[in-house]
Amino acid sequence: MSDNKKPTVTTSQGYPIPYPFETQRVGEHGPLLLQDFNLIDSLAHFDRERIPERVVHAKGSGAYGYFEVTDDITDICGSAFLDTVGKKTKTFVRFSTVGGEAGSADAARDPRGFAIKFYTEEGNLDWVYNNTPVFFIRDPIKFPHFIHTQKRNPQTHLKDANMFWDYMTQNQESVHQFMVLFSDRGTPATFRNMNGYSGHTYKWSNKKGEWFYVQVHLITDQGIKNLNNEEAGKMSGENPDHAQEDLFNSIAKGDFPSWTVYIQVMTEAQAKELPFSVFDLTKVWSHKDFPLRRVGKLTLNENPQNYFAEVEQAAFSPSHTVPYQEASADPVLQSRLFSYPDTHRHRLGTNYAQIPVNCPYAKTFNPVIRDGPMCINGNYGAAPNYISTLENPVEYKTQSNFNYQANQETWQGPALPYHWKVGGDIDYAQARALYQNVLSKQPGQQRNLAHNIAVHVANAVPVIQDRVFDVFAKVDPKLSNDIKTELI
Ligand code: HEM
Repeated sequence: MSDNKKPTVTTSQGYPIPYPFETQRVGEHGPLLLQDFNLIDSLAHFDRERIPERVVHAKGSGAYGYFEVTDDITDICGSAFLDTVGKKTKTFVRFSTVGGEAGSADAARDPRGFAIKFYTEEGNLDWVYNNTPVFFIRDPIKFPHFIHTQKRNPQTHLKDANMFWDYMTQNQESVHQFMVLFSDRGTPATFRNMNGYSGHTYKWSNKKGEWFYVQVHLITDQGIKNLNNEEAGKMSGENPDHAQEDLFNSIAKGDFPSWTVYIQVMTEAQAKELPFSVFDLTKVWSHKDFPLRRVGKLTLNENPQNYFAEVEQAAFSPSHTVPYQEASADPVLQSRLFSYPDTHRHRLGTNYAQIPVNCPYAKTFNPVIRDGPMCINGNYGAAPNYISTLENPVEYKTQSNFNYQANQETWQGPALPYHWKVGGDIDYAQARALYQNVLSKQPGQQRNLAHNIAVHVANAVPVIQDRVFDVFAKVDPKLSNDIKTELI
């Protein structure tokens, strides 16, 4: 940049500062002057540079891209961005680890977040997914308990294997997700080499008013690649930001990662025949009975210009949705609908939707959502602050075909302290199938699973270790024995 194009350094109010590196003082060595707005302005702003980090998923990487429809699924979903093969929608994606702080290592054993914002003509749609098809809980009240056991011990401020396995052995519906987590899929080689899954059951509908239970899968076109436990440990020490580096550099050099998007579809009648609840996200749907149906492709092709503005301030929520895609009655999903915007208001402020990365390009109008701190979008100007028929009349459209579904689910019954009863072997059956039918076909993977569990459980006290052996014996006695043998 030539000298005359260099910007002049100013205060935040635009006053040109002749000597930006110098502080005003009395005489050569005297005290400072309160009138030095440049100093006060700079220090006061610096003191406020940090916002609260995400309570979970604090460490992450983001990129822009697009989603392209490759197959017609208008018989399942009436959302406008899916209505034409070849249609492209701009997206922003954030990948993350879950339990660690903002500076923690990318190679940690942890699920990976895979959150996608679609900037559609009907408003922003967020798919806030993980790289694992199942989750640890099916009752949302357990989430804060579970997450606390993944965080630091309140006294020692250390990660704590006793807390970790104490929780797991008391809440055995989580065994399936723990099996995924302690397989080598728990340490993906990069964000580009992993899949994304809705995990939850969602409810999609078509324009005829028919609705379906749907699960979404994003299958990596780069292929699955994992680190083993020792490689992940080494990577954490040598390059704690390896996944951020990999994503940024791949996109910078034009090697754009992509994922093929599929759905599984189930009718209400089929859901009634399942041996488990369709709202239980500790379970997967059989691919044989509910085959993957291709929908489109997600490609990431643009790095953000500013990490804080675009990645740190990104606000994803399963409640940010579009017509014809809605939450099912899965209680964990229902709770997430509340929790995310609640945390955005805390982390980013009431007007978080006005931050450019979160701002829909679709026209928004709601005259009661106005004012509040950092309101920068014109605040609806002179328009009435309620839905008024007196002045500035606006057309309130009711869309006759929007959200209408024939044969809705109906709910009735007493208020209960739990939502359904589960018991017996059903919580171990899919974990067993993963061990016996999937990992058995991947050389060394049964052994790695036992090893990865053993090196973690080694840090727990014997009484908890015994409980861990018991849980995994219910999955397969060989797995339990292998863990024991590794520990001795
Ligand atoms: C009751 C259950 C859950 C609760 C209360 C919960 C809560 C939260 C909260 C408070 C955040 C931080 C959001 C922010 O600061 O912007 C978060 C982030 C996230 N959660 Fe959850 N979560 C739950 C379950 C899940 C499940 C089941 C999944 C995946 C299927 C998931 C995926 C994610 C992802 C991907 C992020 C990171 C979003 C980003 O990149 O900004 N969460 N969660």
